[in-house]
Order: sequence, then C-alpha cells, then structure tokens
Amino acid sequence: MLQNKKILLGITGSIAAYKAAVLTRLLVKAGAEVKVVMTSSAKDFVTPLSLSTLSKNPVLTDLTTNDSWANHVMLGRWADVMLIAPLSCNTLAKMATGLCDNLLMAVYLSATCPVVVAPAMDEDMWHHQTTKNNLQKITTFGNQIIPVEHGELASGLVGEGRMAEPEAIVNWLHVFFLNEQELSGKKILITAGPTYEPIDPVRFIGNHSSGKMGVAIAEEIKKRGGEVTLVLGPSDIQVNGGIKTIHVTSAAEMFTACEKTFPSVDLAIMSAAVADYTPVDVAKEKIKKADHDLALTLTKTKDILKTLGSLKTPNQVLVGFALETNNEKEFALQKLHSKNADMIVLNSLQDAGAGFGYDTNKITIFDKTGNTYPFDMKSKKEVARDIVNTIIQQFYAKN
Ligand code: CTP
Repeated sequence: MLQNKKILLGITGSIAAYKAAVLTRLLVKAGAEVKVVMTSSAKDFVTPLSLSTLSKNPVLTDLTTNDSWANHVMLGRWADVMLIAPLSCNTLAKMATGLCDNLLMAVYLSATCPVVVAPAMDEDMWHHQTTKNNLQKITTFGNQIIPVEHGELASGLVGEGRMAEPEAIVNWLHVFFLNEQELSGKKILITAGPTYEPIDPVRFIGNHSSGKMGVAIAEEIKKRGGEVTLVLGPSDIQVNGGIKTIHVTSAAEMFTACEKTFPSVDLAIMSAAVADYTPVDVAKEKIKKADHDLALTLTKTKDILKTLGSLKTPNQVLVGFALETNNEKEFALQKLHSKNADMIVLNSLQDAGAGFGYDTNKITIFDKTGNTYPFDMKSKKEVARDIVNTIIQQFYAKN
C-alpha cells in the first residue's frame, strides 16, 4: 500500500527523533519515496547524514542554504502525505498558531497534501491543557493524529506521551492509504486533451487544450483505487505508466474509443475539449495556395458526452465539463441537463489563471440535484482532488 507513495517526513526536536531513522528505513523498505525536513533542534537528536542515507534523498533543514532557496511550496505539493514524527510541543504550538520561523513550518503552512502527526512528549506536557487545546485546534485544520503510546518516557517516568513505535506509524499509514481507496473496484473512463480535425495531410483544426486537467484527474482517480481508461487527444503530456491510455487524434476517433469503453465503466468524466465541427472533405494531398480565398465546409461532430448521456444506465455516473466565456452558470446548467450528465464542472475563461495551458484552474461544480460547489483558484492537481472528492461524496460515500 505504501509502494510509490510520496511521504514528506518532518522531524522535530524530541528525544524520539532517534526513532525517525528506523521509521525512514521502514517506509523506504515498504516502497515509499521519502523526503525529510528537520528542524534545527531535531539535529541534536539524529543526524541529517543518517536520514539522507536512509531516505536516499537530501535532507532539508533551512529555508536558504548559501545561494539556494528550499522550495517549500513544491515540497508540500509533491507529497501524498506530510508526516511529522516526532511532533514536539513546540512545533505543535507553532502549528496551532501559524508561526512560521523555520522550513518545516513553511512546508506545513503551504502543504496541500493531508498532514499527519505523531506527537512525542513527557506525560505532564501531554496532559497540559495547552497541549490538549493545540491538538484539538490542529484537528480542526484537518490534521490527523497518530495516538501516543503508554510506556517509559525520557524523564524515566512511566506514562502516556511516547511517540508511537515506527512499526505502528507505518501500519497507521497503511490504513490511511487503504481508506483513501474509495474507488477501488470501480472502472472509470476519462477523456482529456484537444482533438485535431484533419484538413489535409499537413493541416488540422485544433484547440489550445493541454490535457493537464484530465490527466491530473486520471492520476487522482488511480491514487484513489480506480481503474482508469484515459482517452487522450494529441498532447505532449506525460502520463503515469500505470494508467491505460488510448491515444486518439480526431473527435471521431475519440467518439469510437468512448462508445466502445463506456458500457463497461461505472463512471465517465469527459474533460476533453472536443471539436464541434470537422471538415466534410479531407484533401488527400496538401492543398496548394491559390489566388482566391479558400472556404472549408465543416460538419458537426458527434457529441460524445451527449451520446453517453443517452446510453447511461442507472448504475453509471457521467460527469461533463463546461468551458465558458460568458453566462457561465446558465450555459453550464444547460449542458448538464441537455446532455443528461450527473454533474458538470464549469471553468470560466474569465478567471485569470484558469483554463487552457495554465497549471492552475478555478472551477464550480453543479450537480443535477441542484447543489453548487464553488472552489478557489488552485493547482490542477488540487482541483483534480476537489473534483474526485466531490464525485466520491456524492456518488460513492460509504456513509
Ligand atoms: N463534448 C463532447 N463531445 C463533443 C463536444 C463536447 O463530449 N463533440 C463534451 C466535453 O468534453 C465537455 C462537454 O461536452 O464535457 C461540454 O463541452 P464544451 O466544449 O464546453 O461545450 P459544447 O457542448 O461543445 O458547446 P459549446 O461549444 O457551444 O459551448
């Protein structure tokens, strides 16, 4: 379950930091990719050299070193989970208040992945009301807590406050990732990218879609246990090896691939920017330049989403996209109903940073029961997570 999971391990100043070396070894052994961020006081308990050797990655401790700057934002986006183990009282207090005086806190405050902490402290500190308040507060931010254990403490006393053993933390993560597999056993069809409609052997009618949004959704679905078939229009984008991809060029080819795949899937998400019109005749040879103007006669392509909407069975879920420049909500709702989709994801080209080519997007989701889910501008990876979370909540929640 931890195979290829990206784990960002934050280590803070606590005697339990020595266990972080064993923890790192176990995580790597389980197939996870581990990157370590330490506070400077953690270095008093365990060396960066041990951790970089065990994690096979450089260990980061400072926001800046000589002439380089640690990109804390990218670290938080890279990870599938940020695990802070051990979590000291001091770092807990900073997390509760948002104090940002080191790299670990900068990563924490900018992390977009789930955050999990394994506290470690002496029993009296553990039972202090401030600790309780701070722990309660960080759970309201969505952070999850791996329970402390009872046993011998650094003070020599016996009681509660010991950090969970590395094996217990690894097991906790197994369960965590297992619970994230809400789409396990489900088959999902996704379209992404543009289509190119040939005019002659060297020219086509296309659009600016990069395929980034659809591929990010495919990757998120795979992470959540779904079995994805991605029908991808012409795009340079790299697709994760584990995703079955059918490469197509034209709207007609995309239609054929989708029509064939749809009957066997539980869910279809149509994020491709499909051409609405295609040349009636495709010239066999390159069209030569002439003195007169050239008129191309275009005919309508088949609407894939609408066709799948007409074929949909009661057990299938269909999600469409709407890309609009004006009257966004009205047009999106029209598409939702006229194409018999269950949900539609609107992105408006009026939002700066949203739409084709950007790494960010801003969406609003509408479902057919009248719910609206607006979201802020986010990276396409986060937007994909929002879309998949909304689909799961709406159609696959296990109560
Ligand atoms: N779509 C499709 N097949 C087409 C055209 C669109 O499957 N031939 C799907 C898109 O993948 C998207 C939804 O329909 O999920 C809406 O696409 P969009 O381009 O926003 O709208 P259109 O229906 O093409 O209408 P218009 O271009 O007039 O806005």
